[in-house]
Amino acid sequence: MKRIYIKDLKDYVDKEVTVAGWVDVRRDQGKLIFFDFRDVSGKVQGVVLPNNNEAHEIGSKVRSEWVVEVRGKINKRPERAIQVDKQNGDIEMEIFNIAVLNEAEVSPFDIAGDGKEINEEIRLRHRYIDLRRERMQENIRRRHLVSKFVRDFYSKEGFVEIETPYMTKSTPEGSRDFIVPSRLDLGKFYALPQSPQQYKQLLMSAGFERYFQIARCFRDEDTRGDRQPEFTQIDMEMSFATQEDIISINERLLIDTIKALYPEKEIQEIPFPRFSHTEVMEKYGSDKPDIRKDKNNPNLLAFCWVVDFPFFEKGNDGSWTFSHNPFSLPKQEYISDLLEKKNIEKIVADQFDVVLNGYEIGGGSVRAHKPECLKKVFEIMSYSEERIEKNFGHMLKSLASGTPPHGGLAFGFDRLMMILQGEPNIREVIAFAKTGEGRDPMMDSPSEVQDEQLNELGIKIRK
Ligand code: AMO
Repeated sequence: MKRIYIKDLKDYVDKEVTVAGWVDVRRDQGKLIFFDFRDVSGKVQGVVLPNNNEAHEIGSKVRSEWVVEVRGKINKRPERAIQVDKQNGDIEMEIFNIAVLNEAEVSPFDIAGDGKEINEEIRLRHRYIDLRRERMQENIRRRHLVSKFVRDFYSKEGFVEIETPYMTKSTPEGSRDFIVPSRLDLGKFYALPQSPQQYKQLLMSAGFERYFQIARCFRDEDTRGDRQPEFTQIDMEMSFATQEDIISINERLLIDTIKALYPEKEIQEIPFPRFSHTEVMEKYGSDKPDIRKDKNNPNLLAFCWVVDFPFFEKGNDGSWTFSHNPFSLPKQEYISDLLEKKNIEKIVADQFDVVLNGYEIGGGSVRAHKPECLKKVFEIMSYSEERIEKNFGHMLKSLASGTPPHGGLAFGFDRLMMILQGEPNIREVIAFAKTGEGRDPMMDSPSEVQDEQLNELGIKIRK
C-alpha cells in the first residue's frame, strides 16, 4: 500500500492507510498501547486495541526511535479526546499491523525538548539523533529556504553562481590558513580559502560582471559562539559598481528575505541607518553596535551599515597592516596619499560592514582595480618586492589585463541564520558543527593518519 505522509492523514478518515516513520513515544497501558509516530511531515497518535493479538505482541516490543511501517485505520476521535492545538489532534490511527524496519539502541538523550540543557559535546557526538529534534529540523530547513531565496534573488538580478576552488593558495584575510600538503609536489602546500576574495575579483577581470556564491570558508582561528573554523559566506561581487550600488542591492536582499520568510519579524529602521566608523566608535564604543530600541523583543531586527573604515592600523610589531581587507580602494580623496604612501593613518577605505543586533553579519568594499594601487597597499605593509610578486603577482597581472572597477560583499550566512532563528550561537544552525576546540566528536576529527600517508607526503611529526 502506498505510504501516506502523516500531515495528510486528516484526509483519510475511515480509510485504511500505511504510514512510515519513527516511534516518537510509546505509552503501554497494558490492554491499550498508545504511540506517537513521527515522519518528516509531523506526528500522529496511534493505538493498538486489546483484541489485536499480533499487533499487541509487536507493539509491546517496539521502543522510541525504532523505524516502523504501520498499517491502520484513521478514526475521528470522540469529542472529549480531541486536542485542539495539536497536529492531528482530532484523529487517531487504529493500528492493525506494525512492521519493524529497523530497531534502535536506547537514545543517549531525549529529542522531545529543545535540547539546550543537554551537554553539547554529547549532542554533537550523536548529531544524527540531535538533528531529529523539532528545533534543529526547523533551523536546518529554514537555512535551506533562506539559501534558496538568496540564490533566486541574485539570479534574477543577473548574478551568476560560480564555484571557486577550495584547494588554493593562502589569502590574507587576517587569519591563519588551514594548509593541505601536496603529494605530487613534495614540500608544497595548498591553502584552504579564508574566503573566495581573490577568485571573485579574478572573475570580474574575466568579464562575468556579476558573481555570487554560497561558499565555504576556512579560518584557523579560535572558535567562539559566532565563529567556526569552517563557515559559510553568501559572497557576491559586481563590476562597474559604487559603494552605493553594493549597499543598496544587499540591503534589498535582506529586507526581501525577511519579508518573505520571516514576516513576524520587525525591521527597526528602513533604509538601514548608516554610521561612519568614527561616528560609531564615538557614539557606541564598538564597530558592531547593538542599536535595538527594545532588547527584550525577540522579533526586532536592528540593522545598520558602518562605513568609512580606516584602511590601515598598526600591528603588534608596530608595522602597518590592513584593518579589514587589503584589496580595498581608498576613498577617492585619499588615493593620492596611498600612491605617495603618506598620511597612512588617515587613509579611509571605501569599505563597510553590515551589523545586525550587535553582530557583524557582513562586510565588503570597493576594490583597487589598478595594479599600482594594490601594490602600494603591500608596500605600506612592508612586503618585499619579491613577496608581493610571489603572493600577489597573479592579482597584479589580472588588474593590468583590463579589469573593470568592481566591488562586493560577503555575509556570514551562519551568523545571519543564528539571529533569524533566535539561537545563541552558530552551531545551532550548522548541521554538523565543531566544538569550541574545533573538533568534530562524531567523526573524531582531527585525528591521526596512517604512517604511509605521512611518508608519501614526506611529513614527519615532531612530538
Ligand atoms: P570578512 O572576513 O569580514 O570579509 O567575512 C565576511 C563575514 O563572514 C562572517 N565570518 C564568520 N562567520 C563564522 N565564523 C567565522 N570564523 C567567520 N569569519 C567571518 C562574518 C563576516 O562579516 N572577502 C571578504 C568579504 C568581501 O570584502 O567581499 C571577507 O571575507 O559575518
